[in-house]
Amino acid sequence: MRLRIPLLVLTLTAVLTGCLSTKPEDLVACSVMTVEGLRPVAAERSVRFLGKVAEDTARCRGGDRAVALRGEPWVDWQNYWGTGDASSLAKSIGEGIGHLRANGRGIDGTLLDLEYQRIELIKFNLFDNSGTYPDYVRGRPGVDGPAIRVFDAMRLPPGHPDYARVGGDGAQLCQGDLIRWRTLSGICNDLRNPLMGSSGTPLARNVQLEATYPDLGKTELARNRHGDRLGLLQPDPQVISRKLFTRAQSSADKCRAGQGLPGDSLDASCDYKKAPFFNVLAAFWIQFMTHDWFSHLQEGRNRPELMAVGCASQRVGNTERPLTAEETARLGCRPGDRADRGILAEAADPPTFSHDGKTYPARAYRTTNNNVTAWWDASQIYGHDEISRRRVKRDPTDPAKLMLRPAGQRAGAGERQGYLPPLEAGDPMVPEWSGQEATGFPDNWSVGMSFYHNVFAREHNLFVDAFRKQAAATPLAESGLRNPARPTEAIAYKDVSADELFEAGRLVVSAMIAKIHTTEWTPQLLYDEPLYRGMNANWHGLLAKHELVSAALEKIVTHSFGKSDDAKYANQWYSVFASGPGIFGLGSRIHSHDPLYARLDSPSRDGWSLTNPDHVNGGTNHFGSPFNFPEEFVTVYRLHPLVPDLIEFREWNRDANQIRARVPVIETVRGKATAATHERGLANWALSMGRQRLGMLTLQNHPQFLQNLPMPRLAAASGVIDVAALDLIRDRERGVPRFNEFRRQYGLRQLKSYDDFVDQRLPKGSPERAEQERIVGILREVYGQHRCDATKIITSAQVNADGSPINDCLGHPNGTMVDNVEDVDTVVGWLAEFRRPHGFAISETQFQVFILNASRRLFSDRFFTSSFRPEFYTDLGVRWVNDNGPDGVVMEKGVANGHRDPVSPFKRVLLRTMPELAPELEHVVNAFDPWARDRGEYYSLGWKPRPGAETDPAFR
Ligand code: HEM
Repeated sequence: MRLRIPLLVLTLTAVLTGCLSTKPEDLVACSVMTVEGLRPVAAERSVRFLGKVAEDTARCRGGDRAVALRGEPWVDWQNYWGTGDASSLAKSIGEGIGHLRANGRGIDGTLLDLEYQRIELIKFNLFDNSGTYPDYVRGRPGVDGPAIRVFDAMRLPPGHPDYARVGGDGAQLCQGDLIRWRTLSGICNDLRNPLMGSSGTPLARNVQLEATYPDLGKTELARNRHGDRLGLLQPDPQVISRKLFTRAQSSADKCRAGQGLPGDSLDASCDYKKAPFFNVLAAFWIQFMTHDWFSHLQEGRNRPELMAVGCASQRVGNTERPLTAEETARLGCRPGDRADRGILAEAADPPTFSHDGKTYPARAYRTTNNNVTAWWDASQIYGHDEISRRRVKRDPTDPAKLMLRPAGQRAGAGERQGYLPPLEAGDPMVPEWSGQEATGFPDNWSVGMSFYHNVFAREHNLFVDAFRKQAAATPLAESGLRNPARPTEAIAYKDVSADELFEAGRLVVSAMIAKIHTTEWTPQLLYDEPLYRGMNANWHGLLAKHELVSAALEKIVTHSFGKSDDAKYANQWYSVFASGPGIFGLGSRIHSHDPLYARLDSPSRDGWSLTNPDHVNGGTNHFGSPFNFPEEFVTVYRLHPLVPDLIEFREWNRDANQIRARVPVIETVRGKATAATHERGLANWALSMGRQRLGMLTLQNHPQFLQNLPMPRLAAASGVIDVAALDLIRDRERGVPRFNEFRRQYGLRQLKSYDDFVDQRLPKGSPERAEQERIVGILREVYGQHRCDATKIITSAQVNADGSPINDCLGHPNGTMVDNVEDVDTVVGWLAEFRRPHGFAISETQFQVFILNASRRLFSDRFFTSSFRPEFYTDLGVRWVNDNGPDGVVMEKGVANGHRDPVSPFKRVLLRTMPELAPELEHVVNAFDPWARDRGEYYSLGWKPRPGAETDPAFR
C-alpha cells in the first residue's frame, strides 16, 4: 500500500512542496519525488526503510551534499537542509523554514523519515517475553496478532492479593480503588490487562528472539556470524575497558583515578571529552529516569554466586592469548575482580511453536525480569512494591506530603522547603545504603540522585501546598477528583483526604517528569530543529495550533484505528495520525457532538465518563505486544561516560562565575551523597551541575572512578569493580545481539569494516580524523579479523541491495581477511559512532531504540492518555501539568532557535524549589544546556560565555 493521504500533515508538508529551492536541479528532483509518491511501508523485515532515501528525495531535501553522502551507512536525514546549525540552512535563517522552502523540506522530510522508522519499528521490532508472542504471530480468529488488545498473560494470577478484586478466573477488569491512581506495584494501569508493566514482569525484546544470545550459538546464523569467537569473557571485557574506555589523563597525579586531591582542591584535574551543549544535570537526570523505568537488580542485589570478570586474555595476531603479568600491569586491569551473576527469570530453552511452516521460539533463550514498574510513574521516588514503599517517609503533620526537614542555616528561599531524611535503622536496606536519603530506589546513589530526589520531593510538597491553599479559599468547590465507587459525586476540596492528595501529587510529579524528559531533556540531547519538533509533536501534537483538525484526528485515532482488528489500521495509521493531536492526553476527551466544535466548547460536550472502562482506558495502544522495556533499551542507556570524575563546585550567592572546589563524584557516592547535599546546599549543586558540561558518549571517555568503584558486597580481593567492563558482561549475560546485527535488527544499515566508523567528511590527515583512525586501530586489535567464507549466511534481518543473503564476507571477496565487526559489543559500537546527526549527544543506533520505546511508554500508559483527567489528577493537577505550574503559562521573553515558547517545565520546577536561583536562571532557556553558554543563533554548539559569564574559567 502506498501512503498517499492528503489528510496526513506530515505527508502534505514533506511532499506537496512548492519547491522554492535555490537550484533548478533541486526543483526537478522535488517534482520527480512528488510524482513517484512515497515509498511503501515495508511488507517484509528484510526490505525495510533503513533511513536511506532515493536520490531525487535526497536532492529535494538536501541538495548535492545530501546526494553525495548517500553511500554512507548512516541515516540520510542528517544531511538535509535545516537539520544542523546555521550552516545547514539553505540560505540563511532570514529565509525562514516554511514548508515550501528548502529548509522546510529538509525538516519536514526528516519528520517523515522518522515516522517511517517508527511505523516499521512498531511493525517489526516488538517481541514479548511473557507468553503472548505465539498469538502475536498467529493472531486470533478475525483479529491480526498485532491488533490484539487483551492478553491472557497479563491477567493477575491466582494467589495475587488482588486476584478476586479484578474478577478472579472470569474476565478481569480493574475497577474501584485499583484504578484511582498509579498503584504501588504498577498493576491496573491497563484496566483489562492488570499485570502489564507491574514490578517483576519480564523485560521484552526488540530483536528477533532467535537473534538473542549469540554467544550460545543456538542458530546456524549465529554460528556463521561469530564462529567460536564469543563468550561471556571473550573478548576480555576488562581489556576492552582499559583499551577502549579509559579516559586518557594529561596529569594522572592530579586525577588519581578519579579521586581528585584532598580537600576537594581546585588543583585537581581529570580530563574528559566534553559535550558543549549538555550539562551534568542532564547526566544525572537520565540516571534518575532509568531508576524509574527498569532494574535487573532486586533491592540492590544480583544472584549470590560470584564470577570472574576478565583481565585474563587478549587478542594478539587474531588469536586469544593469556595476559602476562607485565601486560596486566601495563593495562592496569585486575584479575582478582569479581561480580555477582545476574538474576535470570527463565534459564531453560524456550518452548517453540509453528506458524505457516516456520518454527519460532515462544520467548528469548533466557529472560530477566524488570524488578521495578515499567511505567513512568516516579517509582524511584514513591516505591515499586511493599518493601520499597516502607522507605518512603511521609510528613506526620500532613501525610499528603513527603517528609522534608531543614538541614543547616543556609541562605536561600528554597532552603526552607527542606531536605529528605536519611534511611533509619528498621528501614529495609542493604548495608551500603546506610546514611543516604530514604527513598523508593536507593541503588547507585550519588549527589546526582540525591539532588533530583530532593527537588521532586519539594515539587510534590509544593503541589500539596497549592492544593491546600485552594482548599482553604474555596472549600466547597469541586476539586475535579472523583471516586470510581461513587462516580457521579463531585469531591469538594475540603473532602479530599490526605491519601487522595498524596496520590494525586504522585500523578502530577510523574507527568511533570515525563513532560520535562520529552519536551526539554530530549530536545537538548538531540539538539536540532527536527527533533525539537518531533518531541514536541509526541507531547503537544504537530497540530497543536490547529485545534479543530487536531480534535478530528484524535477522534479518528481513538475511535476508528484504535478499535480496528486490522494491524495496518491499529498500528501503522494509528501511529501516523496520532502525530497530529500528539500522544499525551490522547482519548482524554470524548466528543459526543461534532468533534470539530467540541474543542471550542469542551466542558459541556465532553462525554468522557469514569464509569466507562472504554473511556478510562481508551486512549492507549500497545500495538499487540504488552508494554515493558526491552533488554536492548537497557543497553543503550549504559551512559556512564556522561559522568565527569570531578564536579566544579560553585556557590549561587558568591559570584557564580568562580569555581570554588573540585569535588570528586566518588566522594559523593552512597551515604556520602546525602552529607554532600546537606553540607553544600541544593541550590549550589544545581548551579554547579547546571554550568558544567557532561562527558561525551564516545570511546576512551569513561569516568575513572567507575572503573575503580568500591563494591563492598563483592568479596573480591581488589574490593573494587570496573563498572565499564561490567556493562559489557551484563549485556552478554542478557543475550543482546552484537552491534552489527543489532543495527540490522533495528532497521539500520550494517557496517562492513571498522573503518566505516570514521567520519568520511573529515579531511584526510586532519587531527580529528587521525584520532578516529587511531581508535579504529584499537578496535581492530581488540576484536581482530578472520578469513571470510561467502557460503556462510549470517542474518535473516536484512538482505543485500541485490536481494541476495548477507554472508560472512559482508561484500568483500570470498576468502579475504575481514574485520570481526560482527563481534563488536553493542555498547562499544555505538560509542564508536563518530558520525552523528547534528547536536546528537547519542548515536543514531541508540536513537533508533528511543524512537520506538520513548513513544510506546506514552502510548501504553492511560495516565498519559485517556486518564489524563481531573478525575485522577484534580483540576489543579491538570493545570499544573499543562501550564508547567500553578500560576498559568509563563512565556519566555526571547525567541530561541526561531521559537517563542513557554518557560520550560524544568526551569519552572527549579524556580519553585530553589527560588534563590532566579537571577542565574533568567539567562537559561533549556535547563539542560550549560547555564552560562551563549546559545548563539540556530542550534549552535559553540562554547562561549553569555554576557556576564566572561570570567567563568570553564570558558578558558
Ligand atoms: C555516580 C554515578 C553512577 C554509579 C555509581 C553507577 C553505578 C552502576 C553500577 C555499579 C551498575 C551495575 C549494576 C550491576 O549490573 O551489577 C550500573 C548499571 C547501570 N547504570 Fe550506572 N552508575 C552511575 C551513573 C549512571 C548514569 C549517569 C547512567 C545513565 C543512564 C547509568 C545507567 C546505568 C544502567 C542503564 C545500568 C544497567 C542497569 C540494569 O542492568 O538494570 N548509570 N551503574
